[in-house]
Amino acid sequence: MKLQSASCQIAYWEGGRLQLRIANYLTRRTFATSLATLELIRFFVNPRTIKDALLEFRAYNRQSVGKSILQLINAELLLEYGSAAWNQDRLVKSSWKPWLPEGGFHFMTKDTLFVGSDWSVERRLRLLPSTPPPPQFKSIPDAEVIRLPSHATERDTFFETLHARRTHREFGRGKISLENISKLLQTTWGVQGYVQTEVFGRLPYKTSPSGGARHPGEVYLMALRVEGLERGIYHYQAKNHRLARLPARVSPRLARAYCADQRYFAGAAALFIMTAVFARTMWKYRRARAYRVVLLETGHLCQTFCLTATRLGLAPFCTAALKDSLIEKDLGLDGVSESVLYVAGVGLSPSARVDSGL
Ligand SMILES: Cc1cc2nc3c(=O)[nH]c(=O)nc-3n(C[C@H](O)[C@H](O)[C@H](O)COP(=O)(O)O)c2cc1C
Repeated sequence: MKLQSASCQIAYWEGGRLQLRIANYLTRRTFATSLATLELIRFFVNPRTIKDALLEFRAYNRQSVGKSILQLINAELLLEYGSAAWNQDRLVKSSWKPWLPEGGFHFMTKDTLFVGSDWSVERRLRLLPSTPPPPQFKSIPDAEVIRLPSHATERDTFFETLHARRTHREFGRGKISLENISKLLQTTWGVQGYVQTEVFGRLPYKTSPSGGARHPGEVYLMALRVEGLERGIYHYQAKNHRLARLPARVSPRLARAYCADQRYFAGAAALFIMTAVFARTMWKYRRARAYRVVLLETGHLCQTFCLTATRLGLAPFCTAALKDSLIEKDLGLDGVSESVLYVAGVGLSPSARVDSGL
């Protein structure tokens, strides 16, 4: 059997006593390590057998070398060549190459824990630092300050919609019309037109901006209570404004689970699961900074979604607290070339009448 070092590793010194640590950002496991162990990891950068290692490190005690190799295997820092874990590691290495190692942040921060809505105030407070929160607003001492003209709140629908947007956590029990779902999808993720470019050919444009018009965003509709649409998960085909049904199961309980067990979102009529196909952006932008671009764009899309829902008289919300891996498994995504980033959703306002149109 041949072994190879995981490529998704990063080593760093930590703390005042400078403890050497090694993190595998794909498995999200971090270990204290030593320079000697790093030498071993370096030896296995190419696929080798344990016998090869014992020969290479023959100046060391045979048992201690064997023990270190076993520890590295258990820590998933050494992988069996050709195994499923090895394949996943290689997939990240090859498809994220231009953005690594900085892009390891994406994998390291998946499936984060969420503070449960049923946690007591005391329990929540224990998680916070003992110091007071930082000031909410910045003021620059000694700077010249200029008063701005005061004005009444604008009375056109654009400004009214902006001011009316709120995050909702309670929803009416009724169904949302397919027409409204369609408007939400078309307005937020639909192709509004194309622009012809000399270098990049025909590029789509949407209501939200996208770096280089690469539009890495995809969206999946989890329909729970939509008039005229069977419960299910659908991929939105932005190109022709259609829904493609996936063989995934759906339920309010699953909606709640996807949103890191936040109980309020079980009451939503539909979730809009936002993902990104990183290669679209990475193909043009070869530096890890472009990862920021992908995240920023997801924020643009979400705000457009929330405002559109508000304008339609619906109750929108958004959440970044997600069980990424569970969602990706259900959607059939590898979580590497395409990964979930953000979830928005809507329900009926508990009291509101539903507006018929934009
Ligand atoms: C990136 C992002 C993540 C959020 N995640 C959650 C969440 O997990 N759960 C939740 O209830 N609200 C979430 N919110 C909503 C905020 O709590 C909400 O925007 C904030 O309380 C201000 O209220 P408003 O949206 O009504 O102005 C999130 C908002 C943003 C922008």
